[in-house]
Amino acid sequence: MSKAARIAEICADHSGREGPMLPILHDVQAEFGCVDADSEAAIAAALNLTRAEVHGVVSFYHDFTPTADPRPQVQICRAETCKARGVEALMDSAKAAAGDRVALKTVYCLGLCSAGPAARVGDRLHARLDEKALAKVIERA
Ligand code: FES
Repeated sequence: MSKAARIAEICADHSGREGPMLPILHDVQAEFGCVDADSEAAIAAALNLTRAEVHGVVSFYHDFTPTADPRPQVQICRAETCKARGVEALMDSAKAAAGDRVALKTVYCLGLCSAGPAARVGDRLHARLDEKALAKVIERA
């Protein structure tokens, strides 16, 4: 099945929903590892929107990327509360631990503000991170 055909199928799966764009974008991101320009165009056509409208949503959310990155991803919260709890002091060692093998992504709040610094790998959340704990999270990603 071609990518365009699969995207059309994903769009059809969500056609009865109210506000189908985000579920469609999540499915496309999960299946292809990105939401590229061709995907945006296909989704726009299926939802009777302009590509600019779809691109506006894609570029707003950090969950959607224009190109696929096969590396494991570690999301690190760098929002205000985690900053106040010391996340910035961890970033140099986090980058060293990640090297080129792991993609570090900055996110803004994982909902663990009282237990920051916080990070996420897939669906798993990690809280109260210090330098050593964050390095371990990155190594296991
Ligand atoms: S500010 Fe970091 S989890 Fe909320």
